[in-house]
Formats: sequence, C-alpha cells, structure tokens
Amino acid sequence: MKATCIVDSDFIVGPVRSRTFGSFVEHLGRCVYTGLYEPDHPTATPEGFRSDVLDLVKQLGVTTIRYPGGNFVSGYQWTDGVGPVDQRPRRLDLAWHSTEPNKVGVDEFMAWARQAGVEPMMAVNLGTAGVDQALALLEYCNAPAGSYWADQRVANASVEPHRVKMWCLGNEMDGPWQMGHKTATEYGRAAAETARAMRMIDPGVELVVCGSSGVGMPTFGSWEHEVLSQTYDQVDMVSAHAYYFEEEGDRDSFLASAIDMDYFIDSVVATADAVKAATKQSKTIGISFDEWNVWYQHRAESRPPSGDDWPVAPVLLEDHYTVADAVVVGNLLMSLLRHTDRVYSASLAQLVNVIAPIMTETGGRAWTQTTFHPFALTARHAVGEVLKTAIDCPSHDTAKFGDTPLVDAVATRDPATGQMSVFLVNRSCEEAADVEIKLRGFDSAAIIEAITLSHVDSGWIASADDPSDQVLSVNTTPVVAQGRVCIKVPAVSWTLLRLATVAED
Ligand code: AHR
Repeated sequence: MKATCIVDSDFIVGPVRSRTFGSFVEHLGRCVYTGLYEPDHPTATPEGFRSDVLDLVKQLGVTTIRYPGGNFVSGYQWTDGVGPVDQRPRRLDLAWHSTEPNKVGVDEFMAWARQAGVEPMMAVNLGTAGVDQALALLEYCNAPAGSYWADQRVANASVEPHRVKMWCLGNEMDGPWQMGHKTATEYGRAAAETARAMRMIDPGVELVVCGSSGVGMPTFGSWEHEVLSQTYDQVDMVSAHAYYFEEEGDRDSFLASAIDMDYFIDSVVATADAVKAATKQSKTIGISFDEWNVWYQHRAESRPPSGDDWPVAPVLLEDHYTVADAVVVGNLLMSLLRHTDRVYSASLAQLVNVIAPIMTETGGRAWTQTTFHPFALTARHAVGEVLKTAIDCPSHDTAKFGDTPLVDAVATRDPATGQMSVFLVNRSCEEAADVEIKLRGFDSAAIIEAITLSHVDSGWIASADDPSDQVLSVNTTPVVAQGRVCIKVPAVSWTLLRLATVAED
C-alpha cells in the first residue's frame, strides 16, 4: 500500500500544549494505594510514595494530573482526607464499592505532585456536595494564610498555598451511575453558581464544566448546549471523556478509534461555538479531554465488589494492553494534537494500575505496559507547533465508521530548533505502508531517527517479567530525497519519525 502525506511549514494548527500530556489519578482500585502510595514498599520515600513509580511517571512525561476522581469525587468529602492521618475516618466509597482509608488526601497528593513535577488539576464534588464544599476546598488550597480553611492548610501542610489552577466542576454529571447526577438544566445552574463563587475567592482559576460523559450518551450535544448556555461566562473549558475497546472480531473498527475522537472533538467545538454565537460572546471555550484511553469495561476486572465486601484498594480495572491497544493510544494522542487549537488540556485515564500505562506489584516491582511507549515518545518529541497534514491513502470499510483511511499522520515542529516529529499510524491488519512525506516550504531535511511500535503478534502483552520496550524498534527504512521522506511502516503499527529541518525564509 502507498500513502502520501503533505506537510507545509506555513500551515500551523497551533502550539503543542504541554497540558495535552496529562493523566488522571482516582481513588479507585490500586491507583493510589499500592500504586502511588505504599509506605512499606522498599522504594518508599519518607512520605510513603513509591519512588519506583515516581521514576516511571517522570519517564512517561506526564505534565498534569487530574485528582481525586472520577466517579469517586461525586461522593467524596475532601475534609476526611486532611489533618492527622490516624484520626481520619474510613468511609464507604459508593462509586467503586470499596473502603476509602483516607491515608492520602489533598495535601499528600500535592506533595506527590511536587515530587513528580506535575501540575495538579482538582475536581470538586457536585454530586453529593455543592458550592459550600467546593469553596472550602478552594480556600484550603489557594487562599493565603489568615482565614479558617487556609489556616487549616497551614496547620496540616504548608504556609504556601497549593495554588491549583485547573478545577473540574464535578464529574460526568449526566451519567445515571453518578452519585447526584442531574439534568442539564439542574447541573448548568449548579455549575454556574459554583464557578461564580469560586472566582470570588480566586479569579485566576481555570474552570472545566462537565460535558456529556460520552459521545454515545442520549444527552450528548443537547447537554453541552444547555450547560454552556448557563455557564459560558464563568468557565474556560468543557470536558470530554472517551474510552475505546476492541470488540470481538472487529479489529478494523478498533484501530480506527481516532476517527471517533476526531468527530467527538469537532462536535463539541461546533456546539460550544453555537452557544458563543447565540450569546454573542467574544471568548472561545476549549476542551478538556480529561478522560481518554482504551478500556475493556465489560471484562471481569472492571466489576466492582458487591454485597458485604468493601475492600480497601481491590484489584479493579487492571486491563493488560496489547500492541494493537498501544497503536490506538498513539493514534488517539495524534487526534488530540491535531485539535490543539481547541483541546487545551487532556488526561490519559488513568496513571497507575487502573487502565494504566504503569503497573505495580504490591510490595514488588513496577513495570510498564505497551501503551506507555507511544505516550512517552509523543510527550517527549511533540514540541513547538502542530502542522497541518494532508493524507492521501487507500481506505477500507469498517463496521463502526464506514470508509476509513488506512494511514493517519500528524506532524509537529519546533521553530527554535527546526526539529520535526512526524507521528504515523498504519491501521491495516494485513499490509505494510510505503509512506511518502512531501515537505513543502522547507530548504532541507535530514533524518534524526525513526522508531516503530509493532510486533509480529499484535495481541502481545507485556508483564513484569516480559518488558514492554521490546515492542519498539529502530525503523531503518527512511530516506530523504528532493524534499520528500519515504518510510515503510508495518501493519498495525505506530511510528515516530524525527527530522532536522530548515524552513524556507
Ligand atoms: O476512569 C474510570 C471511570 O470512568 C471514572 O471514574 C469515570 O469518570 C468514568 O466513567
């Protein structure tokens, strides 16, 4: 199969945003307990954080972390998680039918985020709680010493405010599974009032209002319209969540999941802009794609405990990812990048153990999944600006998305260094692709390196004993001639091609 891709130095979509490479930590399963935090672990820091996990988090290159949920936040009393640890209550977590020991709360998370070098993004409970609790949490986190909640922070953790910029106004509030879920009208009002009051404490916060919890929800579209109509003045971003999985016998549709993400983003943008026009606003709303990943939700590992079983940190949502899953994760990240003009922030859900690129053995090793690699390589090498790419390639029919192009590409370039990264995906299960990249508006280009993620068995999964980095290999096929780069990429693969370029004056 042959494919052509055109990249023009003048066609810039927007800046590569570091917040595109965020992730998500929820009090769910073993994400926090025995994931981030395990005081008895041989690598534990004095604060009880696993330093083997911290090292992998840094290698992954994540920039922001959304916390503490997720479904969990809609029943969470944040005050349970501050103050002397031995006096904190154990509570039932209704979202995941577990027991929350409250050994980790806001201050521990802020300390962990500092050590990991990531920006915290907090979510407030608009399910079982409301304006009051959100205001108390914001005062606790961001107000200078001298008021009740700020002084509690000073007593518990630090004189210096945590200074959290990004705040989510609840989570998936249209979902019937959500504690305190609401109609669009009810939620829009609650979110507007919460946002307005939060800005009275800290006008500099960046607020994310809940979009519909999925593109397949009956409320999708009308929810965004109603909620934004009520909150437009007060918020900066609207959230989007999407999870994909391979249905038995339909790998072709699965490999094309980024088509759905493209559609999802375009639809939310259209709805936000319709509200902008109707309400005669000048500001533009961005998207916080604050939950995205591959998730095999129907499998046994995603089933919460039941009955009288309320365990602490049970094994939950511990999906093990194939090479094909990693190719899809890489492609979803490409979709986020090509929408960098409107996707202001994103969070791979989640970070450790729970549908995660990083896994841990309790008391033992930390290891990486196949999905770790496209994320880490993109976070490191997507720098500067996103350039528009035009692709001409064969397509095939897929059950979910109809006629679908077999090759996808996105390019970034750092104008300061001239370094360009081209990310390529071959969605064909049968054929390799010979991709010709035509570089327009460049005086020269030279190959720095090319790395391909693939495997003879695209269903291969890594484990603690079988390291995931064997899915990566140096791609030796690229050649440059007369403003073109040619590269061969295998079936079911994701590739990073790095070039040194000089743009025309
Ligand atoms: O990430 C797992 C769950 O998926 C989150 O708790 C929820 O927001 C979403 O439905």
